[in-house]
Amino acid sequence: MSANKESWGSRVGLVLAMAGNAVGLGNFLRFPVQAVQNGGGAFIIPYLVCLLLIGIPLLWVEWSMGRFGGKFGHHSTPFIMDTMHKNRLWKYIGVFGIWTNIAIAAYYCYIESWTLSYMLHSVVGTFEGMDQDAVAAFFNSYISIGKSTLGIPLEPIVFYVLCLLLNTFILSQGLSGGVERVAKVGMPLLILFGMFLAYKGVTITAGVDGAINDSSVGLNYLWTPNYEQLWSPSVWLAAAGQIFFTLAVGMGTIHCYASYVRSKDDIALNAMSAGWMNEFVEVVLGAAILIPISIGYLGIERVTELVQLGGLGLAFKTLPYLFFQWGDVLGAISGVMWFGLLFFAGITSSLAMGTPWMGFLQDEFNWGRKASAWSFGIIVFVLGMPTVLFFKYGVFDEYDYWAGTVSLVVFALFESILFAWVFGMKKGWREITSGSDIKVPGIYKFIIKFITPLLLLWVFVGSLVTPKGGDWGAALAGNWVLDDSSIIKKMMNSSLKKELADAIAAVNPAEVERLQNTLFYVNASRVLLITVFLSIALLVYVAYKKRVREGKI
Ligand code: TRP
Repeated sequence: MSANKESWGSRVGLVLAMAGNAVGLGNFLRFPVQAVQNGGGAFIIPYLVCLLLIGIPLLWVEWSMGRFGGKFGHHSTPFIMDTMHKNRLWKYIGVFGIWTNIAIAAYYCYIESWTLSYMLHSVVGTFEGMDQDAVAAFFNSYISIGKSTLGIPLEPIVFYVLCLLLNTFILSQGLSGGVERVAKVGMPLLILFGMFLAYKGVTITAGVDGAINDSSVGLNYLWTPNYEQLWSPSVWLAAAGQIFFTLAVGMGTIHCYASYVRSKDDIALNAMSAGWMNEFVEVVLGAAILIPISIGYLGIERVTELVQLGGLGLAFKTLPYLFFQWGDVLGAISGVMWFGLLFFAGITSSLAMGTPWMGFLQDEFNWGRKASAWSFGIIVFVLGMPTVLFFKYGVFDEYDYWAGTVSLVVFALFESILFAWVFGMKKGWREITSGSDIKVPGIYKFIIKFITPLLLLWVFVGSLVTPKGGDWGAALAGNWVLDDSSIIKKMMNSSLKKELADAIAAVNPAEVERLQNTLFYVNASRVLLITVFLSIALLVYVAYKKRVREGKI
C-alpha cells in the first residue's frame, strides 16, 4: 500500500491552489518585461495565440494525465506516464516532471525570500526617506553576498532558510491542511493588493506627487503595437516561453495536483477556471503595476534602460522608492502590499513545486508526509545555496535557463506526443471530457493532436538553432550562422568565451578573472543539475524494480 493518503478538501480549494500554482512571480515580474522587450502591444498577439494553441491544450492534457494516473495511485509524472504506455522509457521522460520543480524551486525560493525580507523592511520603514540611489544600493548590498562568502551580512541566507522552513512546514501539513489553506488566504489577499496597486498604477497624474508622466504614457509604452516585430520568430518564442512559465505547464506540477482529483470529478472546467484566473492576474494586474508606476515617476528612457537588466531591478530597486512619493504612510502600506503580493504569488507556486517529489517518495518508498517535505526542503537548500552565494557569477540564470526555459518545452513536446499519438486522441479525449462540467470545444481534438505538437516542435527547433540576429530568411537561404542565444551556442558558452577573449585582448585582469569564474560556476551548475537529474532517474529505476519484485507491474 502506498503511504500516500493526500486529497483535496474542496473544489474551491483545488482551483485556488491550482491558480496559486500558476499565479507567481512570473505574472508580475516576468510578463511586463517580456512584453516591453518583445514589441509591446505586438507581444500580446503571439501571446494570446500561444495561450489558445499551446497553453489551454496543455492544461487539459496535463489535468487529464494527472487524474488518470491518480486512479492507479500515481502522483508524479514518471509513473503517470508509465501507466499510459507500455514502453519503459516514458518513465524516464517523466523524470523531467520532478527535476524541473526541484531545480526551479532552488532559485525561485531565493527571490521569494527577498520578498519576505522586503515586506518586513517595508513594515519597519527601512526605505522611508531613502533616495533612489540609496534604495538601489540597499538591494545591491543585499545580494552582494556573492562577492565573498565571508564577512558579509548573513541576511539573505537567513531569509532564504526561513523561507524554505516555511515552505517545508506548510508542505508537511499536507494538501488540504497546508497548501489549500495557504491558497485560500493568499490568493484573495493577492488579488486585493493587486487591485489596489493597479488602481494606483492607472491613476497616476503628471505633476502630482512628483510624477512626471500620466499613467497613459506607461500603458501606451506597454501596449502600443510594434507590428514589425510581430513576424519575428524570437517574439513568438518569447511569447510561448512566457505562456509555459506562467501557466506552469511542461513542469509536472499540474499532473501532480490533478492526480489527487477524484476520478469522477470535473477537470475541464477546473482547468479553465484556474487558467483564466492566472490570465486575469497577469494581463490585467501584472501589466498595470510595475511598468506604469515606473514610467510615471522615472520616464520612458530610464525605464527602458532598467528593463534591459530584467524585472528584478525595477521591482526591488525602484518601486520601494517610488511608493514613498505617495507619502510616508501610503508608501509603507504600498510596500507591504507589493512585496506581500509577490510573496503570496511566490509561495503558492513554490509549494506546488514540492509536491511532485513528495508524491513520488510517498507512492514508491512509503515515506510519510513530514519526511518527504523535509527531504524537499533540504535538497532545495543544497541546490539553492550556489544561487545565493554565487548569484553574480550567473548560477541563478543558468538554473533558470535550463530548468525554467528549455526543459519545459522539451517535456511538453514529449507529453503532447505521448498523449495524442501514443496513448491516443480517442482515449485522451474521453479522459478530458469525462465528468466535465463544460462542453469542451470539439476543435480542440484537432488542435491537441496536430497543432500543439507541431508548434512545440517549432518552438524547440527554433530555439535550438536560432540563426544569427533571428534572420531566418538568410538562414534558410543557406547561410545558417547560429545566434549566441540558440541552445547550441549556450551549451558551448560561446558568448562568455567571446567576452573572455575580448577581456584578455584588452588586458583587463579584473574582468578576465570575473569571466573565468563565471565560466567555472556556469559549468559547475550544469554538472550539479545533471547529477540531480540522473539521481532522480536512478530512483525511478529502483522504484520500478521494487514494483516488479512486489508483483505490481
Ligand atoms: N507559474 C509560476 C509563475 O508564474 C511559476 C511556477 C509555478 C513554476 N509552478 C511551477 C515553475 C512549477 C516551475 C515548476 O511564477
